[in-house]
Amino acid sequence: MTATRFSARLAERTRASHSDSEGAAFMRDLMQGRGTKSDYAALSAQHWFIYDALEAGATGLAADAEAAPFLHPELTRLPALERDLEHLFGSQWRRAITPLPTTEAYAQRIREVSGWPAGFIAHHYTRYLGDLSGGQFIARLMSRHFGFERRGVEFYAFDDIDDLDAFKNTYRRALDDAPWNDVERERMIDETLIAYRFNSDLFVDLLRQKQAAA
Ligand code: HEM
Repeated sequence: MTATRFSARLAERTRASHSDSEGAAFMRDLMQGRGTKSDYAALSAQHWFIYDALEAGATGLAADAEAAPFLHPELTRLPALERDLEHLFGSQWRRAITPLPTTEAYAQRIREVSGWPAGFIAHHYTRYLGDLSGGQFIARLMSRHFGFERRGVEFYAFDDIDDLDAFKNTYRRALDDAPWNDVERERMIDETLIAYRFNSDLFVDLLRQKQAAA
């Protein structure tokens, strides 16, 4: 009998949380064409604060032997995201965006775990593997609904990765090969569940913001 690979166990243990995030009303509306371009812009704005924390954390852990196998420069999203934000909000985009409460707590949590490789990778995995997976559907649908050519959805375009599936498999192998014992693997799974929770809560905040503005 072969033991279940850790990457498969992680995906299995977080599947219900993934469904919660994916199925959040704000996201479902956007995907099904009931959202507006400004809803999409509001989500992109929140991404900026999250990726600012994630990519600072990745820089800080670049020389860490446990984290390094996951930290590929071709994942870096901030420059593409900033071009999207300029397209969506104009050149003064930085002044137009503020973090929602969940985003602040989410970014704060990422900063807190930036000295704990497995904990940081939990957040890294949740966002980047999601962007490489469902993110590709999201980009296609947003382009269809809002007429984006490239600008506006560059965040989801991983130009420096030729084969997304091969890349995800390499990433999953790094999860399998990480030097984490059973206790550390459990802690990493728990932190991934926390990351999903932030993403689901963020969709609740976004819906609330939208309703308050209506
Ligand atoms: C409309 C929204 C979403 C759709 C349609 C979607 C769809 C998918 C699909 C089809 C996969 C499987 C891809 C594969 O195995 O190669 C996947 C994987 C994944 N998604 Fe999502 N997703 C969405 C939202 C999210 C959100 C909000 C997050 C969290 C930020 C997320 C995180 C992930 C992760 C981490 C994986 C990789 C699971 C693994 O194989 O280990 N997704 N998604």
